[in-house]
Amino acid sequence: RVLIASRIQALSTMAAERGNGNVKRQLAEVFERSLRATVPSEVDVEPIITVGTGNFGDYQCNNAMGVFSKIKGKNAEFKNPRSVGEAIIKNLPESELVESCSVAGPGFVNIVLSKTWLAKSIQNMLAEGIETWAPKLPIKRAVVDFSSPNIAKEMHVGHLRSTIIGDTLARMLEFSGVEVLRRNHVGDWGTQFGMLIEFLFEQFPQWENETELPIKDLEGFYKQSKKRFDDDAEFKQRAQKAVVSLQGGDSKYREAWSKICEISRREFQKVYVRLGVQLEEKGESFYNPYIPKVLDILRSKNLIEPSEGAQVIFIEGKQIPLIVVKSDGGFNYASTDLTALWYRLNEEKAEWIIYVTDVGQREHFEMFFHAAKLAGWLPSDKYPKVNHVGFGLVLGEDGKRFRTRSSEVVRLVDLLDEAKSRSKDALIERGKATEWSEEQLLQTAEAVGYGAVKYADLKNNRLTNYTFNFDQMLNDKGNTAVYLLYAHARICSIIRKSGKDIEELKKIGEVVLDHSDERALGLHLLHFSEIVEEACSNLLPNVLCEYLYNLSEFFTKFYSNCQVVGSPEETSRLLLCEATAVVMRTCFKLLGITPVYQI
Ligand code: ARG
Repeated sequence: RVLIASRIQALSTMAAERGNGNVKRQLAEVFERSLRATVPSEVDVEPIITVGTGNFGDYQCNNAMGVFSKIKGKNAEFKNPRSVGEAIIKNLPESELVESCSVAGPGFVNIVLSKTWLAKSIQNMLAEGIETWAPKLPIKRAVVDFSSPNIAKEMHVGHLRSTIIGDTLARMLEFSGVEVLRRNHVGDWGTQFGMLIEFLFEQFPQWENETELPIKDLEGFYKQSKKRFDDDAEFKQRAQKAVVSLQGGDSKYREAWSKICEISRREFQKVYVRLGVQLEEKGESFYNPYIPKVLDILRSKNLIEPSEGAQVIFIEGKQIPLIVVKSDGGFNYASTDLTALWYRLNEEKAEWIIYVTDVGQREHFEMFFHAAKLAGWLPSDKYPKVNHVGFGLVLGEDGKRFRTRSSEVVRLVDLLDEAKSRSKDALIERGKATEWSEEQLLQTAEAVGYGAVKYADLKNNRLTNYTFNFDQMLNDKGNTAVYLLYAHARICSIIRKSGKDIEELKKIGEVVLDHSDERALGLHLLHFSEIVEEACSNLLPNVLCEYLYNLSEFFTKFYSNCQVVGSPEETSRLLLCEATAVVMRTCFKLLGITPVYQI
């Protein structure tokens, strides 16, 4: 009994520490007590609580079947799973959450939540802030490795996806109380720099005097230098020597290298500023000095073997081993990633390391994760852990890889420009040019345009390819950011037009959920915390998008069936509007979308 009591104690402190909003977890606590009373011998049965599927309950407890098969033959009290379900209900402790329960089918326990409790929870959230509904993850620090374009190459739509998805994951983790190291693992190291540097020396003999190199089109510069490299054997030799000088730390070569990197960095930064994305660069070059030491650690564990002149790690079930030192003695993508992982675990003390790239790189991640497991760096499937967050391709309307008409890689800046100008046109069409200042027009166009690009990406399961289509993403109907942003603005305008001081209502008003559409909206609001936790734990932003879209649907239903302004329930209903707006805004924030308040 002491054991059970202390376990319950531990569970409830855990729930308090981990944020109060999670209904599933709060129900789990209540049902855990009932399970202990129902089958005291089965101390390790964990409560299984899910969101209700039918019309009979808001949530379900699904333990009866499992418990019955465990105790069958041992305990004569129960004849079938149903009788276990009935006993679970009978043994439920007093709880303000639960209104009523009933057994369905083979023993599912349907749970109806108390609407008074629902109403109160919403009121509390309004008074104390949405942070009280934030999930709390059991880790302190995570690395999200995202965006990570390559120097001297164009940042393409794949990098855009990585930037958008990675930023959202970072935001969700941060909201859940985790410190996130937002890492831009740029490709700033490698043999291509030899030819770039030599070409720079040729083209700009004065390069050392320039604080900023006058190269507008670094990608074009890259192509020219590549041509030079392929066409001229003497240049090629110089370029190869330049790599050696650079990697040997020759200051002149380091200087040239860093100036070249700076050009790309400036371009990347433009995109990040527009998207409102924060990143801290620790490029491949950063880890270079640590590689020999990390490889020695792996060698000491007998993991590295020579193979055809290279040094490799053999991975069970994989035909080709992981190459960690090339046959020319150089390091590669894998040696850098193994070292970066070592650094993140040991120097940065990250407990969860998340990599966001296209699914095409899955094999690479599988391989070096496996090597890290062999080295004992990732001892369990709990924390510290690593995840590769893969995503599909961005397709054009022709179903092929997204390209411009001249079949070039699409420039991100152009893409964002177009999204912005299209949404500006749409606003002008709605007559906003006369109603609003130019500044408000532009700000809204940006919020809507960039929001649309982000949301169109995030709403899909990230593993699938998605088709980039401006008309679709900028449609003001359907599951789009435009629709959702407008819905939010409309809620704000309902509150504004009521003429009531919402801050005052929060202090004195009371939420009541008597109408079934009020209750349905209230219940959906209460799902927020567990949805964020699910989206975050499973690294699936689309879960949050779906929640947000459904929220707007529940709101529409409520608003069309319940008069707000001028009704006897006005105060409560305005508070419900406000709560919806707060939760919507929080979803926008987590998705990296700037809300609009007026439309
Ligand atoms: N620079 C790589 C690319 O453009 C992505 C790097 C991802 N991060 C990593 N740690 N490997 O494909």
